[in-house]
Amino acid sequence: MRRGDPDVERFVKELAGENRAFWASRDVRLDPDAPPELLLAQIRYRMRQGVYNELRSAELIAAWIPYVRERELRDLLPRQLDDEQRHYQLLRKRLLELGEAPDAYEALPEWVDLFDWLVACRSRPTLEKLAMFQFAGETQSCEGFETLIRLAEGLDAETAHLYRTRILPDEYRHAAIGRQALLLLADTPEAQRRARDACREMNARIFAAYRAHRTRADRVS
Ligand SMILES: [Fe+2]
Ligand SMILES: [Fe+2]
Repeated sequence: MRRGDPDVERFVKELAGENRAFWASRDVRLDPDAPPELLLAQIRYRMRQGVYNELRSAELIAAWIPYVRERELRDLLPRQLDDEQRHYQLLRKRLLELGEAPDAYEALPEWVDLFDWLVACRSRPTLEKLAMFQFAGETQSCEGFETLIRLAEGLDAETAHLYRTRILPDEYRHAAIGRQALLLLADTPEAQRRARDACREMNARIFAAYRAHRTRADRVS
C-alpha cells in the first residue's frame, strides 16, 4: 500500500466526480415541488425506510468485518456498525414520537436484493466492497440526507435537526472510509478499473431501488 500517491489521489477525485455526475437529478425519492402534504408523506416514508436501512447497514458491516483483512480499514468498521445501530434507534424513537409505527416499513424486493446482494459480496476484494457501499453508497446517502434536511426544515424542524446533528456527521465519516480504502488500494490501473466498475454497479442498483421506492411512496401516501 502506498500513501499520498498523487496519481491515486487524482483517480479518487475523478471517480467521486463521475459518481456525482451520475447522481445529478437521479435521486428521485423526494419531490421538492410537491405540495407540503405529499412531501411530508414522502419524508415519513423515507424515515420508515431509514429504520430498515440503518438496521440492514449494521448487519452488513457485521458480515463484512471478518472479510476485511486490511487492518487500517478494518479498524474503522466497528465504529460504523455502532453508528448505524444508533441511527436505527434514533429514527425508531422519532417515528414513535410522531405517532407512527416505526417498523411498518416492508422491504421492496429490489431493496432487499440490494442489501442481500451486498452481504453476498462479502468475499469480494475490500477495494470493491468499500468502493460500492462506503464510497459510492454512503456519499450518495449524504447528498440524499442534505436534500431531506433542507426539505424537512419547514415541515418538521425537529426531524431535520435530528438528521443534521445526530446522523449526517456520521454518514460523512462513513463515506470517508470509502475514500480512504480507495486511496490505499486503488494504486494500479487494474485496481482502478475494478473500483470504477464497482461504483457503476452500485449506482445502477441504488437508482433502480430509488425509482421503485418513489413509485410506492406516492402510491401509499
Ligand atoms: Fe446510518
Ligand atoms: Fe452509514
